[in-house]
Amino acid sequence: MKKNYWKIMLLSFATGVGLSIMSCGFAGEVSKSKQEQWKLPAPKKKSRVSLEQALNLRRSSKGGFSEKQLKEQQLGQILWAARGVNRPDGKLTSPSAMARYSVSVYVATSKGSFLYVSENHALLSVSDKDTRKGIGTQDYVKSAPVILVFVADLSKLPETIAMNRKISFVSAEAGAIAENVYLQCAALKLGTSLVGSIDKGFVKEAFNLGKDEEPLFGMPVGYVK
Ligand SMILES: Cc1cc2nc3c(=O)[nH]c(=O)nc-3n(C[C@H](O)[C@H](O)[C@H](O)COP(=O)(O)O)c2cc1C
Repeated sequence: MKKNYWKIMLLSFATGVGLSIMSCGFAGEVSKSKQEQWKLPAPKKKSRVSLEQALNLRRSSKGGFSEKQLKEQQLGQILWAARGVNRPDGKLTSPSAMARYSVSVYVATSKGSFLYVSENHALLSVSDKDTRKGIGTQDYVKSAPVILVFVADLSKLPETIAMNRKISFVSAEAGAIAENVYLQCAALKLGTSLVGSIDKGFVKEAFNLGKDEEPLFGMPVGYVK
């Protein structure tokens, strides 16, 4: 009787673990509630590609992307490079005006759209829909397996700051994030490009953005064709 009890317990535990592993794969179904966070694999802090090699490989890839999907590890690595935590005090891989972190990274995939939550290195679902075709105005952007979108929240900056300074702050912040993404993509042999030509109205609706949130740039990421 005691033996059977342990057998049943072990089997239920194994089934539970199996189901959770199956449900967290990037290529798997996203059946998450709006508030559930999808934990990404820990980023690597070392690589065989030197900074100088990555700089030498950095370029905008505009020839279209192959259909090959990114692995969860690759996506997590790129998001960490963009806006991940890199110090015990919680500060990030990219700088921020007054450390207000007024620019967030949203992620559009075939399985839905998400907000990257730096402190948890996780994704928060904002939409179950595949929004990739509506974000960029150029065809090569639409072909990417993943599109990052940098969104500013101007309400995070002090009210005493003039609007034109707020805009230059968030633009510089997005530029720093973009360069990190470019270099990480170069090191991973993936293609990307910074695109200002995005449909901001579509993005606001697709990601359910708040009234103070303003889409700035997009970055399609994928294997170059
Ligand atoms: C602020 C900014 C906006 C850009 N917007 C677009 C865009 O909308 N579409 C596009 O294809 N490339 C865009 N680019 C990429 C540039 O075209 C590209 O960086 C330039 O041609 C130089 O090529 P390289 O990045 O390979 O060195 C943008 C770049 C920057 C810095």
